[in-house]
Amino acid sequence: MTKPHALVTGGASGIGRAITRRLAADGFHVVVVDLNEPLAAEAVAEVAAAGGSAESRILDITDEAGVEALIGALPPLAALVNNAGIFKDQPFAAASAADFRRTYEVNVVAPFLLARAAVARMGEGGRIVNIASRAYLGAKNQIDYVASKGAVVSFTRALAMEVIGRGIAVNAVAPGLIDTPILRALTPERLKAQLALQPTGAAGRPEDIAHAVSFLASPATCFITGQVLFVDGGKSLGGSAV
Ligand code: NAI
Repeated sequence: MTKPHALVTGGASGIGRAITRRLAADGFHVVVVDLNEPLAAEAVAEVAAAGGSAESRILDITDEAGVEALIGALPPLAALVNNAGIFKDQPFAAASAADFRRTYEVNVVAPFLLARAAVARMGEGGRIVNIASRAYLGAKNQIDYVASKGAVVSFTRALAMEVIGRGIAVNAVAPGLIDTPILRALTPERLKAQLALQPTGAAGRPEDIAHAVSFLASPATCFITGQVLFVDGGKSLGGSAV
């Protein structure tokens, strides 16, 4: 029997790699969509070595025609995980309009393109999980990123309402600080400062996010839609843990 297909953007690295492993272990055939060819191949090989099934497609997800062609050539997706995202750490005054636009293209417009193409063919029980960030509540030095992740949350809520009548659920996961290559965008001093703000005193693991995505991507998880699940070691609580 053909396995249900799950597409994971940015599935080659960090959180996306852990989501790929987890969804493959859950029984999905995972389509890893990424820019990084060697890492995507590694992700697919890792899944195969663990007895799962995956394939990779190299694509810039901001390429509208490329996204349409890719999704049109796949069987209808059981799950779409909009995980790929970019992040720059810089003071507000240094942020350019070009940075802002590129961050929106990757973090907001691309998930829209993927969701539109996927929903057109998705059946009842389909699942969309968008990776937002705890930072959408507010963070310094990341104005374009924070604004883009706020848009991801609003997009999740609006799309959930659009597709609820078709039995498709759309939710977001808002990770706190997670130990992945994206943190290279922070200077060692900024990383230290971020870690000091963690109530647990440490960053989370990509597997912590994959676990939440597995839950929200499962056809068994009914009656939850338009929600944001914080997976952030308590940081969104806002208080001091000391
Ligand atoms: P990462 O940098 O390790 O992985 C991102 C992946 O996305 C890379 O493989 C990259 O090649 C791919 N990608 C980037 N732009 C792309 C494009 N235009 N087309 C196709 N693929 C593209 O990052 P990480 O940490 O795994 O982040 C995954 C998601 O989690 C992002 O949306 C990020 O904003 C979010 N997040 C991460 C947090 C963290 O602390 N690591 C915290 C909160 C949210």
